[in-house]
Amino acid sequence: MKIIVVGATGIIGAKVVGALSTRHEVVGVARGTERKLNLQEPATMRALFEQVREVDAVACCAGSAIFKPLTELTDADYELGLRSKLMGQVSLARIGMDHLRDGGSITLTTGTLAMRPMPGSASISMVNAGLEGFVSPPWVKETMMKLHMDPTPGMASADVAKAYVSRPTRLTAVPRLDANFRRTTWNFRD
Ligand SMILES: NC(=O)c1ccc[n+]([C@@H]2O[C@H](COP(=O)([O-])OP(=O)(O)OC[C@H]3O[C@@H](n4cnc5c(N)ncnc54)[C@H](OP(=O)(O)O)[C@@H]3O)[C@@H](O)[C@H]2O)c1
Repeated sequence: MKIIVVGATGIIGAKVVGALSTRHEVVGVARGTERKLNLQEPATMRALFEQVREVDAVACCAGSAIFKPLTELTDADYELGLRSKLMGQVSLARIGMDHLRDGGSITLTTGTLAMRPMPGSASISMVNAGLEGFVSPPWVKETMMKLHMDPTPGMASADVAKAYVSRPTRLTAVPRLDANFRRTTWNFRD
């Protein structure tokens, strides 16, 4: 598969590149890489997809937001989180879905602060929660069948149950969406 990794030089992104590179063709990008992409500049996303064709998947491990006490957060701090981590990744998904091969996937990064806010996380928690709202989790397959809906995009109840039995502190929810936003799935990993 051909996979674009955004934030390829970061702590998480570099490991994602390393893990994927053994079996796939990986195009790693960031603001400082040879092929550049800036989450705050949608034109750079369009340019990249024009250069790199027939992409199967996009994984984004980038996006900034400011961690600071609520009373110290400035307009610019909020603006950064909204423009970079939130709307940057939303734009990446919206632009990317027009350029992916059929069945392709886009993986975005949120963080636990959406569900577990703490002092100083107001801006980041807001941004992460916004992203999770954008990539909404799917219905349960069996419920869809009961309601005579197409169960294809649903998640099996057995997989949903894993979220209840995993130790919450080790649980990470990874939202994934396909090019048509129809096959959104959450992969629960512990
Ligand atoms: N590390 C954690 O503990 C943790 C926990 C939860 C969630 N996250 C989330 O995971 C993501 C990655 O975290 P990390 O710790 O790996 O970050 P990191 O080490 O700071 O790396 C960030 C990567 O993204 C790139 N980047 C930054 N701003 C960008 C932009 N506007 N456009 C394109 N690329 C950009 C950076 O390269 P350039 O500077 O060259 O662009 C770098 O490759 C972030 O969204 C973070 O909020 C991290």
